[in-house]
Amino acid sequence: MYKERIRLASLLDKVMPAEAAAAMIRDGMTVGMSGFTRAGDCKAVPQALARRAAHEPLRITLMTGASLGNDTDKMLAEANVLARRLPFQVDATLRRKINAGEVMFIDQHLSETVEQLRGRQIAPVDVAVVEAVAITESGGIVPSTSVGNSASFAMLAQKVIVEINLSMPAGLEGLHDIYLPTARPHRQPIPLVSVDQRIGLPFIPVDPAKIAAIVITQKDDSPSNALPPDQETRQIAGHLNDFLSHEVRSGRLAPSLQPLQAGIGTIANAVLHGLIDSPFRDLTMYSEVLQDSTIELLDAGRLRFASASSVTLTSAVYARFLADLERYKARVILRPQEISNHPELLRRLGLITINTALECDIYGNVNSTHVGGTHMMNGIGGSGDFARNAHLSVFVTKSMAKAGAISSIVPMVSHVDHTEHDVDVIVTEHGLADLRGLAPRERAQQVIANCADPLYRELLRDYVTRATRRGGHTPHLIEEALAWHVRLREQGTMGGTKVALAAA
Ligand code: COA
Repeated sequence: MYKERIRLASLLDKVMPAEAAAAMIRDGMTVGMSGFTRAGDCKAVPQALARRAAHEPLRITLMTGASLGNDTDKMLAEANVLARRLPFQVDATLRRKINAGEVMFIDQHLSETVEQLRGRQIAPVDVAVVEAVAITESGGIVPSTSVGNSASFAMLAQKVIVEINLSMPAGLEGLHDIYLPTARPHRQPIPLVSVDQRIGLPFIPVDPAKIAAIVITQKDDSPSNALPPDQETRQIAGHLNDFLSHEVRSGRLAPSLQPLQAGIGTIANAVLHGLIDSPFRDLTMYSEVLQDSTIELLDAGRLRFASASSVTLTSAVYARFLADLERYKARVILRPQEISNHPELLRRLGLITINTALECDIYGNVNSTHVGGTHMMNGIGGSGDFARNAHLSVFVTKSMAKAGAISSIVPMVSHVDHTEHDVDVIVTEHGLADLRGLAPRERAQQVIANCADPLYRELLRDYVTRATRRGGHTPHLIEEALAWHVRLREQGTMGGTKVALAAA
């Protein structure tokens, strides 16, 4: 069956077991693997690497598009294969190793990894390992459910290993649009002016002589683990819908809004899901990952077109997507993450971006990555690419975490991923703070009144009142600004006894 998928006959003799292909990856190498938010990751070569590491030294730098499925990061972390990892991950075991200092993690804007590779600013890729559904007559690689950084890895690496996944339908061919920017400083503008435009090829063009091995696999992507909407995320979606409706009534947005981007995770997925009950029509998405909510919006006739770098769905929706591929293919494009997240294009298209914060401060700075200011959660992913270049940059979060012990609205964030300059709107289940055109002192009033949980509102007001007496453009009590995080560490709640008693 695989012979139909390898259409360049001269490559048929490159088919080999995963162990033989993985033997091309040696200790100390830099490996670029496909995979973006659990979609389209390599299934066999990483397992062969983990097995080999049990009996010989094998430590590599692993670059991917974003997070991997199939517990690959867990398996490679447990086998101590990962010396260095970039640019994103979501695995609990790898997270522990990163926070213990055993794996050097480079938390990067997802649009930037291949710019640094192309500019030879980071170690070059020795071997690329790319999942595909087919190899074309010219040796072009047809990716599966994600593009991520696969095209750049394959084109920049010395050797390419292709995993042909027979469990992925051959009909995925035609879903992708592979265009890569040329080298700087004489780069031409990227010729994309609408979300549904195709500007590249339906496959990754590589010199067939570089394809050193082909491994046949038959394993599905890991399903998305985003949870369904709950009451609080529905309330967040409701506030955002009301706000966007107001923008439409005020003539600042059309009823079709502007291209939407929504981040990974439960909250962003739920918020997008909320658009099903909105008055908006003919919507478009220019995002990096398409979650269940995208398919629901397409099916509900709300969404006209979706562009992204990967499709990450729960099992039931995944089956629905693959079963009706031809219909979805007319309304979905997958692009390299450099294009889905490119600042030039995001500015041009005028995106409404919706990303999730772990915590926000009263002035609008956002921490999306570091728990308690020190411990990596997942990484910044594409949120920085999108937030900085958005037409309207929205951050969503539940107002509290860990049963109220943590307020997601704090005097000062313990780590900054998105500065106040990149944040237009903050939404929690309690309401929405529109920070556009406001100075820090005004922002603080909005954020506290509209977004903070009542349990923490008075503590925040007291902080601002006392800080304001000291003056400053952005008033702070520097010695106290992170006291909430210290209290959490020492007393188990940010609000101390007062909040614990009120919560009880
Ligand atoms: N301090 C400590 N932990 C917190 C917290 C805070 N201020 N706020 C939330 N959490 C915890 C939650 O309790 C939850 O823990 P659990 O897994 O033990 O239940 C976890 O963080 C996830 O929070 P949740 O509310 O379920 O949100 P989510 O699944 O939507 O994820 C992020 C939120 C911020 C972790 C996630 O969106 C992320 O990694 N973002 C950065 C990357 C990104 O935005 N990419 C966007 C482009 S695709």
